[in-house]
Order: sequence, then C-alpha cells, then structure tokens
Amino acid sequence: MDTLQQTEIAVQRTDKPVSEQDRKAILANPGFGKYLTDHMVTIRYTQDKGWHDARVSPLQDLGLSPGTMVLHYAGEIFEGMKAYRLPDGGVTLFRPGANASRFNASAERLAMAQIPEDLFVNAVRALVHADQDWVPSQEGASLYLRPFMIGTEMAIGTHPSNSFLFSVIASPVASYFKGDAAGVSLWVSENYTRAAPGGTGAAKCGGNYAGALAAQAEAAREGCEQVVFLDAVERRWVEELAGMNIFFVFEDGSLQTPPLSGTILPGITRNSLISLANDMGLTVREERYGIDQWKADAASGRLVEVFACGTAAAVAPIGKVKGKGFDLTVRGGEPGPVTARLKKALTDIQFGRAPDPRHWLDRVV
Ligand code: COI
Repeated sequence: MDTLQQTEIAVQRTDKPVSEQDRKAILANPGFGKYLTDHMVTIRYTQDKGWHDARVSPLQDLGLSPGTMVLHYAGEIFEGMKAYRLPDGGVTLFRPGANASRFNASAERLAMAQIPEDLFVNAVRALVHADQDWVPSQEGASLYLRPFMIGTEMAIGTHPSNSFLFSVIASPVASYFKGDAAGVSLWVSENYTRAAPGGTGAAKCGGNYAGALAAQAEAAREGCEQVVFLDAVERRWVEELAGMNIFFVFEDGSLQTPPLSGTILPGITRNSLISLANDMGLTVREERYGIDQWKADAASGRLVEVFACGTAAAVAPIGKVKGKGFDLTVRGGEPGPVTARLKKALTDIQFGRAPDPRHWLDRVV
C-alpha cells in the first residue's frame, strides 16, 4: 500500500542508485551512520519567499560559500528519527510530529526560521518513501533520519541568518552501542558541563554536541563509553549523557529521571518511556538526582538499574559508572528486568509488534 500524501515536494529520483548488491551488503551490516541513502530532501527559506524549492533529489554535496554563517557561528539544529520495517513489509515513522515541534523549539532558541510542522513531516515521509528499500529488516536495525537546518546567509557579522537550508538525509543503522546488551559504561565529568541555565541545553543544536566532545574524549581516556554531565551551577545534579537522557530504577520498582529544567534535551524516547512505565503501573518521578545520592543508593542497594535512552540508542542499560575516586558497577554489569521490559514495550510498538493505542506510528509505506 502506498500511503504517501500529495505534497508540494518535487521528487527527482537518482539515475545512479547504489546497486542492489551493494545496498544489500550495507543493510546486512550497517554499523551506525556510516552510509547515506540514494536521496536527500532540501527546502530553502528566504525572507522574501518563505519556504520554497522543496525537493527530493539525488544525494549530493552542498555548495556553500566559505563565508556562510553556519561555518562561523554554528547556526545549526537537527533532529534524530527512525523509520522502522513493519512485520507486513511496510515502513513506519514514530511520533514525527513530536520531532517537528521540538525542531521548531530549537529553531526559536537559535533565532532561526520556523518550518511548518506538516512540511517537516511531509519532507521526512517523502525521503522515506523514495528510499524505502534502504529500511533494514533485521532485528533492531532501522533507517536513521537526520533532518537539519543551517543558516546560509553569506555574512561575517553576527546576526540571525536571513536565509536557511532545511535538509533531510538518511542512514541505515544497527545498534548504536557495541556493548549494548551488556551495559554501557559512564564517566562522570567534573571538568566539563554540557549546559547552563539560560543556555542552549534544551535545544537540539550541533553546538551542544561539539561542546561535549572533549568530555567524551575524557570519558574514553578513563575507559568509559559515554560521559554523564552534572549541572553547571551546583555541580551535583545528574543531567544527561552527551546525546541521551538517563533513568534510575529503585528497588521499590519506581523510576526517576532528571526534570526538563531547561538544561536537558526533552527526549521523545524519554517522554514515551514515562508513558509506557505509567501504563505498567510504575511510578516515574521527574526529579533531580544528585551524584552523592547515586553513590549512596548504589552502595545500599536501593538503586537497582540505570539506563540511558534516545532515538539512536533506544534503551541502553548502564553497567558501570566511574568518576574521580569512585567506580560503581550496576547489577554486576548485567541489564535489569525493568530496563528490558521498557525496551521491549517501546521497540515492540516501533516495529509494529504490539498495539499502538496512542497512535504514535505514522505509516509511510
Ligand atoms: C539521537 O538519539 O537520535 C541523537 O540525536 C543522538 C546522537 C548522539 C546520535
């Protein structure tokens, strides 16, 4: 069934697609974010024309003047989404409207143009439709979608750009973490913070990720896979990883996750898991959790599971937490039952294996 709605997006298919043989080889072992599909979406914005020239076209490089604003002042925002292969061979998106609305919240924070939410969603749908053969079928794999927007005005002065390029690219992906099932290790950074009150922490902008890389490198030097940040004011409240939210599970079966205080990303996976946990009768507190409490709860046994979540990684159990002067193992490094149950509940909906009572799926094919 072809359910692509009529949109104003022109479609020009490539006459040089990746060969079926090469595509199948890539899909069998995609890794994460290493390959792009045959097509891309581009839509231009100028103050006089508004959004215009919307098209799906063959994947190509962007021609940019070296004076383009994004190259100097980092006017860039993005989203992370996935297209999932359904049991009947169809393809679906998951809560694309939530990504569209978060994208516009990021745009507002970065003084960039707002894009109509239906244009955002239709653009993503059009790319998935064009590249539907790139959606993997094997367990846990999907087509990662990366909508992004850059300021394209050629100007060396700092002011909001007067022109923008919105684009969507796609990449077949498998698991984000190599040691996913066994548990990810975290380094608690004392040297770096990710976001301060009034800053851009709640926006999905490239600058936040660039600023996290030195901390991520520090984590790697300490033998850990990911960094976990503390708040910038008191340097004690757990915030998030470099690109994922975090949840704690306690022995009474309740969960806790840092509140959306303006310095952490309002994760769509985070939000979905809170709903699913509530459906299971589990209490979820959106409350601050201090690093000292984390250490004490790990020592007393009150804290029984920790997991990270995001679109790319879905739900990833945390096996080890290390910081200056401490080294904790969560559950002997084994993933816990609440983490596993929530991961299954979420991914069963995403892959069409379970009912979707909240109408989170948006079928494309
Ligand atoms: C996502 O989870 O989609 C993100 O954008 C995080 C990124 C580090 C891959």
